[in-house]
Amino acid sequence: MRKPKTFNNPERFVEGWYWVMPSQNLRIGEVKPVTILGRNLVIYRCQDKRVVICDAYCPHMGAHLAEGKVEGNELRCFFHHWKFDDQGICVEIPCLDEPLPIKLKTWPTDEEYGMIWIWTGETPQQPLPFIPDLEHHEFDVAFGFHFMKNCHSNIVMMNAIDAQHFNTVHKLPLEIIFDKEEYSQNAIIFNNTTDIRGDYIFKKLIHFISKRSITYNICYWYGSTFIVTLGFDFFSLHMMFVLRPIEGGKTEGRTILMIKKRKKFFGKLFNQLVLWLIKLFGKNFVKGDNKLFRTIRFDLKTPIKADQSIMQLINHVERQKSLMWGTWQLARSRDVELKENHNKWRDDLSND
Ligand code: FES
Ligand SMILES: [Fe+2]
Repeated sequence: MRKPKTFNNPERFVEGWYWVMPSQNLRIGEVKPVTILGRNLVIYRCQDKRVVICDAYCPHMGAHLAEGKVEGNELRCFFHHWKFDDQGICVEIPCLDEPLPIKLKTWPTDEEYGMIWIWTGETPQQPLPFIPDLEHHEFDVAFGFHFMKNCHSNIVMMNAIDAQHFNTVHKLPLEIIFDKEEYSQNAIIFNNTTDIRGDYIFKKLIHFISKRSITYNICYWYGSTFIVTLGFDFFSLHMMFVLRPIEGGKTEGRTILMIKKRKKFFGKLFNQLVLWLIKLFGKNFVKGDNKLFRTIRFDLKTPIKADQSIMQLINHVERQKSLMWGTWQLARSRDVELKENHNKWRDDLSND
């Protein structure tokens, strides 16, 4: 295998949709700073409920726009009160009769599954991540956990198709062989219909709830978001992992639990119960993986046939358009600077 250019590279990432924050964390009129893929941005919610994401620094003199104020659907810089509309166009400079023809960079956004998303290129070329075959279905959604991992997002996501580790780390008596299906330029699916080895209580239990075998599918989007589907005879569960690389080659992510919407009272109750159960089960299940994420230095030096799916995933990531903003250093030094300043002020205050 050649050394991958994008996969597991902390400086590069696939152009695509990335999660920003849960919709409920941004109310109308609120403006907040966010750092996405090493770039400092500002996010605000307009009066008409839409979300706008723009670069963080004012094109006048560089004040941080998260210190500013949302006015209707526009954002006013706190420093000299220049105002920018939701397209980033400067619409007012208080000390001039006419605004100057300047523009603040804005980014395409969307909201789905209770989450705000950003497209990291100019115009979105591809859809938000969705579950193939269930594109237009409605879901009941619940947030699982919010986590940080000490390795690249690509390594976290790769784990879901590492067939060997289900036996060794998770001690599951499953025979897993994946079939890959290139769904689109930015999405790849791994299908498996699992059979259980030996004669375990687990097997009896599974056969009790599901006559056929269980299906276990994973769909990866943009090398950063993936959806695990566990299918039984009578219903399917979906767990969406939204990930993004953060500085230092680490990962920040969340899980979103999804289940097809049920109408009646008992249907709703059933869904809530199932969502609660997956949350409980999920936490224990990932314990073994955490050990791996803490210390791995990924380097697939000796691939064997059982690693085939992983190699297919790497190739899929490599074929996508990748970007390099070169802003990690900037974001990092700014963070360090803020922390230092903060400590300094605290010391100053305590000396007073
Ligand atoms: S720096 Fe924003 S208006 Fe001057
Ligand atoms: Fe795992």
